[in-house]
Amino acid sequence: MKKPGNYSRILVTSALTYANGDTHLGHIAGSILPGDMFARYCRLAGYDIIYVCGSDEFGTAIEMSAIKEGISPKEIIDKYHFANKKAYEDLGMSFDIYSRTSSDIHSKTSQDFFLNLYDKGLLYQKTEKQLYSEKESRFLADRYVKGTCPVCGFEEAKGDECENCGSALSPLELINPKSTITGDTPVVKESTHFYFPLSKYQEKLEKWIDSKADWKPNVINYCKGWFKTGLKDRAITRDLDWGVPVPLEGYGGKVIYVWFEAPIGYISNTLELFDQKGEPEKWKDYWFREDTKLVHFLGKDNIIFHAIFFPAMLMAREGFVLADNVPANEFMNLEGSKQSKSKGHAILVKDVVKKFNPDSIRYAIASNMPENKDTDFYWEDLQAKNNNELGAILGNFVNRTFVFAEKYFDLKVPERGSLEQIDNVLIESLKSYSKRIANYYESYKFKDAVGETMNLVRDANKYFNDTQPWKAVKDNKERCSTIINICLQLCHTFAVLFNPVLPLTSEKLLEMLNEDKANFSWDKSYEMCLPDGQVLNKPEILFVKIEDSQIEN
Ligand code: 2FM
Ligand code: ZN
Repeated sequence: MKKPGNYSRILVTSALTYANGDTHLGHIAGSILPGDMFARYCRLAGYDIIYVCGSDEFGTAIEMSAIKEGISPKEIIDKYHFANKKAYEDLGMSFDIYSRTSSDIHSKTSQDFFLNLYDKGLLYQKTEKQLYSEKESRFLADRYVKGTCPVCGFEEAKGDECENCGSALSPLELINPKSTITGDTPVVKESTHFYFPLSKYQEKLEKWIDSKADWKPNVINYCKGWFKTGLKDRAITRDLDWGVPVPLEGYGGKVIYVWFEAPIGYISNTLELFDQKGEPEKWKDYWFREDTKLVHFLGKDNIIFHAIFFPAMLMAREGFVLADNVPANEFMNLEGSKQSKSKGHAILVKDVVKKFNPDSIRYAIASNMPENKDTDFYWEDLQAKNNNELGAILGNFVNRTFVFAEKYFDLKVPERGSLEQIDNVLIESLKSYSKRIANYYESYKFKDAVGETMNLVRDANKYFNDTQPWKAVKDNKERCSTIINICLQLCHTFAVLFNPVLPLTSEKLLEMLNEDKANFSWDKSYEMCLPDGQVLNKPEILFVKIEDSQIEN
């Protein structure tokens, strides 16, 4: 195994998707695609890596949807867990595990975590005023209540967070609160809850984040903002039926707060993964050993939970690794405004994979990834990326190479004879391209990684044009043989370097090249791996043109 820098293994997570609706391109751009691209790159680089994701199935977000759809929370999560798992598979995501927080293993892991802190005397109880709906006879926790954000004035802030400014809120902080279900104004009633002493961890967290010089400025800035306001202790239990029960006698009707147990889902899913593999102790390597590099991918609305709250929980629990990086993305809006499944303004993965090549969707999103600022998804952009780049540059190069191999060389890798300067220049550039692209992946610059990979294909097309194999085939067949050999070697290079963003195309290319799997690694991406005479398979069209009629809604 190769080592990722000073580390020995990598644990990659993408934010767990709420199983309360169909996943959409906003999730893909925010946390899922960057996680998948990074995981795929790490596998090709030869690192020991696991990629963990799954469904987030508790909390008021689920209950809200259940009420709206008129079915039970259990029915909601069963419906959307499997639907989203399939949608992600259809879009080529390569999780090592995609499990669910309603599993027994997750309840047990989160209850153990809670009890560990409780036994150490770190949690305290406090009786506090809470919003209560007399009409519904229930406390209005988190998303059961909406109102105006006290920080930015956004009128649709939820009881637990403001989507507009990213602030973590508690229902009582909302100005003019209303029940989300009935719209009535709640009263204030007392309830007793367990609190996590987040304020005590501020100094430690600040020091820890200060040591993270390579974190994205947007993430650091969010954290600094919260430190400036001062971290507040947080209630980690709720008066709800739907959730992981508080594991103590006499607390019936209380569950663990979803944002306390959901990130523990990364741990329980790792445990489940290695249970399935028959190596039940191995999860500990990933969570307890300091030489594990833990990387969380997520959207900006989740930064506080992954860069502050969860690390503080892990510090309290002791012995667990903390994130090496939290490369959060901003949002990818849809033609000018935020994607939201609840508002019906979103492109659902399950729909888009039926209409378009999944790799084209991945490529369009990766090329416009909201790494440092919000970006917009436009249908015209998907069409342009597919037609003008994937089809006209990559597809064209592969196609013309295979046309020559089939027409003049019997669909075999022709012999590579003596090399000319133009050949050497291109071959030598492969290593530096491969290293540069690797550096982009290692530093979470996915847009640059993809752009640079396509630049290499541009060079390849220029090589084809400049060497003119259509002339050489008539005047000097040996020379033509060398050119086509090199072009086929480049197809191998593309199969490797494009794999993180275009996994299906990469597979097709490997199949067409009839490649030995042993050559499928980042280190081999710049080597001339195909032996002379290797039999090739029939070429396939890689990208079909997207017509105007397909993107007109
Ligand atoms: O915001 C969300 O969509 C949450 N379901 C993310 C959870 S990430 C983790 F901590 F589980
Ligand atoms: Zn706000």
